[in-house]
Amino acid sequence: MHNYNFYLDLVNKAINNINYPKQPAHLYEPIAYTMGLGGKRVRPVLTLMTCEAMGGDLNKAINAALGIELFHNFTLIHDDVMDNADVRRGKPTVHKRWDQNVAILSGDTMLQMAAQAMTRVDADIVQPLMELFNDTAIKVYEGQQYDMDYETRNDVTVEEYMKMIRLKTSVLTGCSCKAGAIVARADEEDAESIYNMAVNLGLAFQLQDDYLDVWGDPATFGKEIGGDIVNNKKTFLLINAIDHAAGNEAKELHHWLTDKYAPKQDKIEAVTALYESLGLKDLARNAIIKYSHQALDLLHETKMKYDAYKQFEAVIESLVNRDR
Ligand code: IPE
Ligand code: IPE
Ligand code: MG
Ligand code: MG
Ligand code: MG
Repeated sequence: MHNYNFYLDLVNKAINNINYPKQPAHLYEPIAYTMGLGGKRVRPVLTLMTCEAMGGDLNKAINAALGIELFHNFTLIHDDVMDNADVRRGKPTVHKRWDQNVAILSGDTMLQMAAQAMTRVDADIVQPLMELFNDTAIKVYEGQQYDMDYETRNDVTVEEYMKMIRLKTSVLTGCSCKAGAIVARADEEDAESIYNMAVNLGLAFQLQDDYLDVWGDPATFGKEIGGDIVNNKKTFLLINAIDHAAGNEAKELHHWLTDKYAPKQDKIEAVTALYESLGLKDLARNAIIKYSHQALDLLHETKMKYDAYKQFEAVIESLVNRDR
């Protein structure tokens, strides 16, 4: 096994080698812009790590890894339109820097580029890989729709939330690992175990993302803080706040959830203070730890060598303790 930076270098090289046509500039510039802004690249790294951990040839997994990162970046461009987000990776979002139509169309193009990359693998695995990719993509869109539907509901349960983040986020981390297993021709059992491991990692990952949306440092996190609060996103935090607030706190929360004209900054500060007084920081941390432990348990079920196991363990550890 290699270390994280080795896989990251391979991913970055593949991304740097993408040849974008010059015209139409408003189609391709936003794609190059988005792909060039970096990000953690955890999904393609997971693909390469899984491939190698399961005895496959890394070079044969690069295109699948690239396809997954292209797909992920496409979802971010459209997500920022839906979430009305102005900043990503410390820079203006595509719909802010250009406009919404540009965001729609360059996003669409990235989705197709992702599919192209995913099919540039050994002929015998194109079918299973594309089936996994297409199933995953549709689930992501289902999750995104629930995420938006929930903005206007105040009775969303933690169970519904977990289902929603499984769809919008976790199936893609699952797919990232399973794609590596497919390239490595791993047996069905191992492919399923690593998939389930990565789904649980994805749950912890989205819980951590929700946490950082409130308590992160915008300079490090690269996104504006409080976007979820402004949008009434039914995050783990808000659902628990609705469940736990009583008396005056319940009244105050109701006010912030319903006052459409509340100044954004006031709302963010007040709801954050409510979360803190309700002890939700600890509650969220505990949930993150719970799902990361489930990921670790599932990792044990694979027939990985010890050094591969340790490598995955380190990635899980770093992702649930991340600040960006
Ligand atoms: C952001 O994903 C979207 C979520 C699923 C929370 P990342 O946190 O992996 O974003 P980048 O790619 O590192 O910017
Ligand atoms: C991300 O959820 C899910 C997808 C992009 C599919 P968020 O909306 O929380 O992601 P960020 O916080 O904008 O990165
Ligand atoms: Mg979103
Ligand atoms: Mg968003
Ligand atoms: Mg978020």
